[in-house]
Amino acid sequence: MDLFKYRGGQLYCEDAAVADLAARFGTPLYVYSAGTLRRHYGRLAAAFAALRPLICYSVKVCSNIHILRLLAEEGSGFDIVSGGELYRVLAAGGDPGRCCYAGVGKTDDEIRFALNKCIRMFNVESEQELENLARLAAEAGLPDAAGRRACAALRVNPDVDPKTHRYITTGKKETKFGVDLERAERVFRSFAASDGARSVGLQAVHIHIGSQITAVEPYVQAVTKVLGLVRALRAAGLAVTALDIGGGFAADYETGDALDADAFAAALVPLLADAGLEIIMEPGRFIAGNSGVLVTQVQYLKAGGDRQFVIVDTGMHHLVRPALYGSYHHIWPVRPGPQYEPHGRLRGEVFPGTVLVDVVGPVCESADFLGCDRRLPPVRRGDLLAVFSAGAYGMAMASEYNSFPRPAEVLVEGAEARLIRRRGTYEDLIAPERQAGA
Ligand code: LLP
Repeated sequence: MDLFKYRGGQLYCEDAAVADLAARFGTPLYVYSAGTLRRHYGRLAAAFAALRPLICYSVKVCSNIHILRLLAEEGSGFDIVSGGELYRVLAAGGDPGRCCYAGVGKTDDEIRFALNKCIRMFNVESEQELENLARLAAEAGLPDAAGRRACAALRVNPDVDPKTHRYITTGKKETKFGVDLERAERVFRSFAASDGARSVGLQAVHIHIGSQITAVEPYVQAVTKVLGLVRALRAAGLAVTALDIGGGFAADYETGDALDADAFAAALVPLLADAGLEIIMEPGRFIAGNSGVLVTQVQYLKAGGDRQFVIVDTGMHHLVRPALYGSYHHIWPVRPGPQYEPHGRLRGEVFPGTVLVDVVGPVCESADFLGCDRRLPPVRRGDLLAVFSAGAYGMAMASEYNSFPRPAEVLVEGAEARLIRRRGTYEDLIAPERQAGA
């Protein structure tokens, strides 16, 4: 359930009229609903309550520190993938002791930073990285006087097909992520016998099989495989205390609503309940996907060949998903008027009198579209459009390509709207370049 609804011919985010927000803060504008973020976090927590998991919201999805703070207040930990993301968590007042750090290319500086902040766990992706972590942990003085070591999980590649887009499939053998299941047991055994084990406790397994996953079977397959590994490791006398099952639960771009977390839980909770493992989860899109819209203003209308173009003031530089993955984001006017006011789900409602258009941006690339072959009510120059379900991998993947400053971000709570990132300026574009010579 998201809280973006049409009432009286116009779009509201909770109790704030989106057109008013655009007038106040300008466009392009990312608008997030605090209530939706909380509700989706709560849904997941409730569905998996029997496991009492550590939920680590995936920072890369929507990394604004005000949103991280909101989720930290809900009790969330964080999945991080860089030193920069750890820095964001700290700036948001998040607890580094509830951060799990994945990523195939962690640098020495990043690892030192995370060791220094005593993060919950390093999700190690290769044998070399594990050796390097052990070296740096020893250099950092671990084990310390209290016997404390760094905690690590081995990211295992379970070789399952999550049936999602190729670019966001991460748990198949041919991807760069994790260590093959067959090699994993050897890695645990040889590390336990090595010097490195004095500084690093490798006592957990991590998987993350992909993103925008709608089916439970790939999770069941992957979890079943790694539970087999856990049994084998325990039989060999090695301690395994935690399993991080990653993220990947889909958002529904057709309805604008989150998927049913209970369906995932119904399949996974029985598998995991008696495993004697602390369970960690890393949801991102499920929480943030349907919690944000990108509001844009129509600049020009034009015909080209047999196409009608609606040219707007945002595009692939602010929401790259359509260009990069061919993703669908529903687009509809902010003030469609009563005749075109949607009821219920986003996609699929048929309105007479709509026009077939391509909604495109100002960037000099033909891939710069937000939606092609869309039926929209007739729009005019100056009208506002909402691009729905843009809360995940929207602003987080935005760039300044073509030297367009980044959009502003607003967080709505009831009728209140708070600017959580000011609009980028021309000076923002060049400040690091000016400072380089200083
Ligand atoms: N954990 C790890 C280790 C990850 O790599 C990711 C996402 C997540 C958790 C969160 O996954 P989620 O629950 O959001 O599916 N830019 C793409 C998605 C890339 C996913 C990267 N990893 C998109 O816009 O569809």
